Amino acid sequence: MPHTKNRNSVSQQTESSASSLLERRLKTLGIHSPLFYDEPIALVSAKGVWATDVTGRTYLDAYNNVPHVGHCNPVVIEAIQAQASRLNIHTRYLNSQVIDYSEELLATFGDGLEKVSFTNSGSEANDLAFRIANQRTGNTGIIVSDFSYHGNTSLLADVTTALPTRNGVSSNVRAIRIPDLDTADNDVSPAELFEIAIRELDAAIESLNSEGFGVSAFLFDPLFSTEGLCRLPDGYLHAVQQRIHAAGGLLISDEVQSGFGRTGDAMWGYELYELAPDLVTMGKPMGNGHPIGGVVTSADLLDEFGAANLYFNTFAGNPVSAAAGRAVLQVMKDEDLMANAQTTGNVLKEGLEKLAARFDFAGAVKGQGLFFGVELLPDQKSGLSAPAVTKKLVENMKDNRILISKVGRHETVLKIRPPLVFNKSHAEQLLEGLEAALHSI
Ligand SMILES: Cc1ncc(COP(=O)(O)O)c(C=O)c1O
Repeated sequence: MPHTKNRNSVSQQTESSASSLLERRLKTLGIHSPLFYDEPIALVSAKGVWATDVTGRTYLDAYNNVPHVGHCNPVVIEAIQAQASRLNIHTRYLNSQVIDYSEELLATFGDGLEKVSFTNSGSEANDLAFRIANQRTGNTGIIVSDFSYHGNTSLLADVTTALPTRNGVSSNVRAIRIPDLDTADNDVSPAELFEIAIRELDAAIESLNSEGFGVSAFLFDPLFSTEGLCRLPDGYLHAVQQRIHAAGGLLISDEVQSGFGRTGDAMWGYELYELAPDLVTMGKPMGNGHPIGGVVTSADLLDEFGAANLYFNTFAGNPVSAAAGRAVLQVMKDEDLMANAQTTGNVLKEGLEKLAARFDFAGAVKGQGLFFGVELLPDQKSGLSAPAVTKKLVENMKDNRILISKVGRHETVLKIRPPLVFNKSHAEQLLEGLEAALHSI
């Protein structure tokens, strides 16, 4: 056996301290690999909504949406294990798992969204959606929100507006401001906000046309999660859809964060607005941590793309991934998790609104289902800026063993987005912890 430098075999992972892991991580993954918290947490295990760190401390997970049906869900584990011990192979052979999963997944969509192409991530799904849109429209112009993130491939780096990228958005991309009733100036009415936003969209379309790109697609997250959960003026997304279609472009609904029942009211975020997207992309919660994503679209669009492009993806839609995806849908149904998102979400919303009313530096409570944001303002007493208040709250919550995070243009919105198995007693614990953290500012 050749000598290996590995200290631990894969199955005998020793539990190093957070500080030694951090040191080794910086040496191996580099200093720019992002981490949460001033003092990062080293997690070793998790179950349901609870995550345990290397010191044995247990945290209530009110942040992570990837373990959608709960960390280490036994049904998902069993499905993965059973399929992995039977067969795992790429997708150029027939296998019932992926067909069963496709049928079950597609049954959650309405008319016109009838075919799926699997990918390994949300990024790959959005990348493929762009290619399909460009093929259909013959255009290359893309419109996105001016504070958004949709993935990490080269095509998606070109449309990234919320994170730094070396070149910024490329010349075929127009970034528009998404209207938010909560953050709009007080002297701007909802109707005016709507008009301003639509004028900006019209200008973006006009500019793409005049520069010869034309409009290929509007790519959007229906909850505008990265933007900080915008509260849209009525009819905004309908008007966007109408204008994008009139310009010859397609609508891509990125359901990586909003999909799989996250909002409680709908399986897919676009349904909240009664939109008819041409393409729907998904990822994160789809395999409960197993990497799987996908694009759902019409037969027409997929066939047209496939006739001109042989799209092959070695791992995407393999039998083990499909088994994981099926198990997620099964648990969602068996445990009625969309209804849970609604009822627990209502408890959380009410509690968050009551808390926000008691603290001067707490503003609008945004969101629904099991996805909430709380807008924070500067605190006059301590003199802390809004971003500083937000950061301090997130750190204090961690010290009180509750995981949440922050989003928004200036990182001034608390992000609360737990696994969908988060129940009323978890919600109450979160609210108690948040109350203590708010008092500590
Ligand atoms: C809305 C949205 N779309 C796409 C992505 C990219 O997904 P992935 O990291 O699986 O490539 C993300 C990731 O954060 C996301 O939030």
